[in-house]
Amino acid sequence: MKKFFTLMALFAITASSQAGDIANGKKIYKKINCTMCHNANGSGKASDVSKIRMTKGPKIAGLDAAYVAEQVIAVQSKKRKTKNTAMMYAKVKKLSKKEIADVAAYVASLGPKYKGMFQK
Ligand code: HEC
Repeated sequence: MKKFFTLMALFAITASSQAGDIANGKKIYKKINCTMCHNANGSGKASDVSKIRMTKGPKIAGLDAAYVAEQVIAVQSKKRKTKNTAMMYAKVKKLSKKEIADVAAYVASLGPKYKGMFQK
């Protein structure tokens, strides 16, 4: 029985450390100024993918938190690198994994479910 509770406690800790903190994510969104390229509501400055430029990001509101985190990390690590990612890279390069998880949770909370550019 003791083992069972230890397992449950471990599970709870793991689950809570993976789910981002939306309130803190909102602060990070402001601090980094994701708004500059993605709008305050996450609707994006580019009306469609063909209009994406360095300071005109796509719509991100409602993307899966896991997808957002994956893409921010890909930009940060230059795994996702296009002619348009340099400025986003400069903005997100110092974010920790925890900050990314938080901002991702906030972005996911911004709208109805929406599929990202590389999501099937
Ligand atoms: C200087 C402008 C700029 C800033 C600031 C910026 N981004 Fe971006 N973002 C872009 C551009 C441009 C793209 C598209 C990159 C490409 O594929 O060419 C993008 C792509 C993304 C994507 C991928 C969308 C998809 O459908 O694959 C996510 C998620 C994202 N940004 C989240 C964020 C978050 C969260 C922040 C703030 C922490 C942020 N961005 C700050 C410009 C910016």
